[in-house]
Amino acid sequence: MKKAASIVVLISGSGSNLQSIIEACQSDQINGQIKRVISNRPKAFGLQRASEAGIDTLCIDHTKFDSRSAFDAELAKRIIELNPDIVVLAGFMRILTPEFVAIFEGKLLNIHPSLLPKYPGLNTHQRAIDDEQKQAGVTVHFVTAELDGGPSILQAKVPILNSDNADTLAAKVLIEEHKIYPQVIAWLAEERLKLIDGDAFLDQHKLPEHGYKAD
Ligand code: GAR
Repeated sequence: MKKAASIVVLISGSGSNLQSIIEACQSDQINGQIKRVISNRPKAFGLQRASEAGIDTLCIDHTKFDSRSAFDAELAKRIIELNPDIVVLAGFMRILTPEFVAIFEGKLLNIHPSLLPKYPGLNTHQRAIDDEQKQAGVTVHFVTAELDGGPSILQAKVPILNSDNADTLAAKVLIEEHKIYPQVIAWLAEERLKLIDGDAFLDQHKLPEHGYKAD
């Protein structure tokens, strides 16, 4: 077995995706080891999840910085010192500067709770309901300088029922998030997944425009 990939996870909140990644590393679904979890919010519950799993934690409170670029520079520094193979955004609710993204391009993954390119940005579930969409879902993608615009890798869909509201839909989508994010991280850890000239490849095959669909 190849050496375990070193992973840094960035969070802002509950960290349920982080939890699924921790468990996937523990079960060897991901051949990786989380070296540090960094939150921009001191009270993020995910910090507690990381501590309980024996993972190094750090809070870099964005409200203490004068500018986005100053925050991103500190964040980059505290990641680079670990020289990770993979940087995972798991509910990290900050827009990153192009300078930050450039440092980690090809190693930087995000999960976004919509079927991109539909509904980039915030309030994705309410917007899908308001538009009377029949399906919602989640996308894992490489991060590029364009917000929620990097090449998609894997998507999972859920039906939107008449009885759904944003909360029930978010809960259904989260179940899918916890399945597909570990899968994509496992591919990157095994070096099966690559970003080449702005396109995503898995096992040397260019991915379809909106990524693979989970079954
Ligand atoms: C997840 O639904 C994730 O897709 C979303 O935040 C939630 C974090 O939940 N991310 C974004 O909206 C990024 N723009 P978690 O803290 O329980 O993993």
